[in-house]
Amino acid sequence: MTDAGTVVRPAEPSDLAAMAAVYNDAVLHSLATFDVETRPDDHYAAHVASARPGDHVLVAEDVALGLLGYAFSTTYRPRPAYDGTREVSVYLAEAARGRGLGRRLYAELLARVDADGVHTCIAVIAQPNPASEALHAAFGFEHVGTLREVGHKFGGRVDTALWQRMRPSWETSAQMS
Ligand SMILES: CC(C)(COP(=O)(O)OP(=O)(O)OC[C@H]1O[C@@H](n2cnc3c(N)ncnc32)[C@H](O)[C@@H]1OP(=O)(O)O)[C@@H](O)C(=O)NCCC(=O)NCCS
Repeated sequence: MTDAGTVVRPAEPSDLAAMAAVYNDAVLHSLATFDVETRPDDHYAAHVASARPGDHVLVAEDVALGLLGYAFSTTYRPRPAYDGTREVSVYLAEAARGRGLGRRLYAELLARVDADGVHTCIAVIAQPNPASEALHAAFGFEHVGTLREVGHKFGGRVDTALWQRMRPSWETSAQMS
């Protein structure tokens, strides 16, 4: 698999089933998500439909192979004082990992988030996940803490690491509170 022919673009409703398939593979086979049962095809419908500034869903699509993965920014916690904060995440099909696609998705996602004036982004990374931590570190996220044994999956207790990225200081356009 090569990058030739892979585009990164905003998600559309027609992408929902393929996005859910990528997600459900992670549900069943990894600690990347604390969901333990598969989700329906419309799992990301509200994310894709959101027109709220700071909310984005991007997909990586290969012309021959179809949807390879996605990244999104969404509500961190549904309280007004968190309006300037977004939680971000990214999921790739197993065969699409380790060749720079996570970087491509995050570069585009964070450019959009910054342009919208989002003040800070949070990533919650279940442990261990060296690929995700390397990706977030590459985009200026810092490890700000670890919650001990907050998850229970595959018969064991799981820590989550919190990674945070502040809006770059050179960004001077719109600013969310
Ligand atoms: C995490 C994930 C999105 C990373 O995307 P990716 O396309 O595989 O990563 P990239 O090829 O863009 O590499 C990004 C960085 O991670 C590093 N990396 C990639 N795979 C790695 C691995 N298995 N172990 C350690 N580092 C790794 C790369 O070297 C690169 O670091 P650098 O910029 O310092 O050189 C992808 O592996 C994935 O979808 N994993 C399963 C779902 C998941 O864990 N999502 C995150 C939930 S928090």
